[in-house]
Amino acid sequence: MDAILKRRSVRRYTDKEVSEDLIKKIIEAGMNAPSAGNQQPWHFLIMKNKKTLEDASGCSPHAHALKDAAAGILLCGDLSLEKHKDYWVQDCSACAENMLLEVAELSLGAVWLGVYPRQDRVDYLKKYFALPEQVIPFAIISIGYPADEIKVTNRYNVTRLHYEKW
Ligand SMILES: Cc1cc2nc3c(=O)[nH]c(=O)nc-3n(C[C@H](O)[C@H](O)[C@H](O)COP(=O)(O)O)c2cc1C
Repeated sequence: MDAILKRRSVRRYTDKEVSEDLIKKIIEAGMNAPSAGNQQPWHFLIMKNKKTLEDASGCSPHAHALKDAAAGILLCGDLSLEKHKDYWVQDCSACAENMLLEVAELSLGAVWLGVYPRQDRVDYLKKYFALPEQVIPFAIISIGYPADEIKVTNRYNVTRLHYEKW
């Protein structure tokens, strides 16, 4: 619960760089996510270059956090790695959450920037990064050291529980 509650979307960062070692840990957390039949249909495109981060933020009106981030990870699903059709979205979602939890554990900050299924964002990133046909950009994880304190709140909501029948 500590790691889960510590994870909150962080969209403002300090100028401090995030080391390769920490990026590797975040991706390692993602790669250890559950996936349908353990198919692991993911690829990770790492962005650290300022210009690349700025350009990639142009994929969506809601991706401004990426402009000031120390790094970004474009998480992609590779349809050619699917053994269980159409489960890649759920696999990549679990992968993204694992990365966010590791970010929180490392006292870094991050936000999940939605890409798939918005076709304009998918097309933009596919073209910009020259992704192969079968590789679909799924989400961008924007990462840096948090500029503000992270407030911990708990959203447990008893009205969403249903026992035995609705
Ligand atoms: C599928 C998905 C897409 C999201 N897309 C964006 C986005 O494009 N831009 C953004 O700033 N935050 C985005 N978020 C972050 C949510 O706004 C955030 O998780 C939500 O407001 C709850 O706040 P918390 O993450 O601090 O708990 C996205 C989150 C998810 C799960």
